[in-house]
Amino acid sequence: MKKHVAPACGLQGRIKVPADKSIAQRAALFALLTKEPSCIANYPLAEDPQTALACTEKLGARVSRKGDEIRVRGVGRNGLAGPDIMIDCGNSGTVMRMLSGILAGAGRAATLAGDKSLSRRPMKRIIDPLEQMGARIRSSVGGYPPLHVSRNQHLKPIDFLLPVPSAQLKSCVLLAGLFGESPTRVTEPVASRNHTEIMLQLPTHREGGMHVITSSALQFIPAQNLTVPGDFSAAAFWLVAGSIVENSDIILPDTGVNPTRSAALDILRRMGADIRMEAGIDVNGFPPGYRTRLQEEQQKEQQNDRNKTPSETEQHSRMTPPGDGEPVAGLRVRTARLNPTEIQPHEIPIAIDELPVLCVAMAFADGVSRITGAAELRHKETDRLAAIQAILEAGGVRVEALQDGLVIHGDPERIIHPARHDSRHDHRMAMSAAILSLRAASVSEIDHAEAASVSYPSFWSHLDSLAHI
Ligand code: S3P
Repeated sequence: MKKHVAPACGLQGRIKVPADKSIAQRAALFALLTKEPSCIANYPLAEDPQTALACTEKLGARVSRKGDEIRVRGVGRNGLAGPDIMIDCGNSGTVMRMLSGILAGAGRAATLAGDKSLSRRPMKRIIDPLEQMGARIRSSVGGYPPLHVSRNQHLKPIDFLLPVPSAQLKSCVLLAGLFGESPTRVTEPVASRNHTEIMLQLPTHREGGMHVITSSALQFIPAQNLTVPGDFSAAAFWLVAGSIVENSDIILPDTGVNPTRSAALDILRRMGADIRMEAGIDVNGFPPGYRTRLQEEQQKEQQNDRNKTPSETEQHSRMTPPGDGEPVAGLRVRTARLNPTEIQPHEIPIAIDELPVLCVAMAFADGVSRITGAAELRHKETDRLAAIQAILEAGGVRVEALQDGLVIHGDPERIIHPARHDSRHDHRMAMSAAILSLRAASVSEIDHAEAASVSYPSFWSHLDSLAHI
């Protein structure tokens, strides 16, 4: 499908962004692991979350749908269907990596396959720890899908230091750990999104400035009764569009603003973006008292870390908030003049999916912006560093490629060259190209625009409803 995007001279309106893909996929997969019935409200229609539901059903759960409310009757940790079933993970890396952990932990043999893009995504990062835990994983040469997961020996809990800051890898190992007699520990030197910890109520603590999360067979798996918040990663497209298009004023109600996920908010604000929260939410975007409590807790933990020996620290653990403990805010964005910025390596995991559209914002900043430490973007649905560079350059923006990032020469007065962009079948590239095109001299074309449906099926109609031509 091809889409034409016309330049806009004002984006105004209220947009209910789709429900969060990361949280929804987890809710579906975790609901499978408990026999308690789960009720997930505001479940998204997007392709990836629907894939997660289909996989849950394939593994034995009973799923009923009433509008956007999903009821799941799971099978519990030991009741997964199989062995030797074939599971289609579609385009979803999250589903493939989390299910690999579940199947390896449960010792249920199965094959996990995906579409062309997923079949090119690296799985060695999950194969290595799962094999250390006693699983056997067969893959295509070089560690690519399809994956055949099985386990013929006892599950061996591990102490795992995350080699890449990836929430998918962290979740995969912790899910396998849920089947072990003694605890599996995952240490993350750099924070990544913590939805798994929150939704499974896993014990976490800090040790030497790092997060340590544990899981074991003793861990109670809660039913997933929650309303999925709006997807911050979807909202980010409008936060950038509303900032760069003249005469814009966009309201985004009920958007998830988990701090391990929403660094793009801080990045855009330090660039000068005019983004505010609706009433009832503090200026940092958290419900009243949330951030203060979080900071106090972290300070206390850091102090404790300094005072305690490691073994004492190990014994000290804290439960994360319950499954519906995700902060939600209404966001309002209005046009602003943007300054350049540097995105630091520690910000990458907590802004990972927003980086392509942040590059679009940088094209209109008053000076040179820089992203480093973002090599991980080369392993997403497509090589997103190369893809966004091609999109920006086709629009006339000067970009310098780094091995692990980009340097973007911004200009607030810039008029983008109308161009023909290719999404490369990547949802975030289709939508980033569309946002850039709103500042073009005339109509731009986007090939393979249907890719947006992976996370945001109503993106094109939302764009039409906001745009004043
Ligand atoms: C996700 C984690 C991120 C993100 C992806 C969803 C998740 O991947 O890019 O879209 O739901 O855990 P990595 O953690 O592998 O970087």
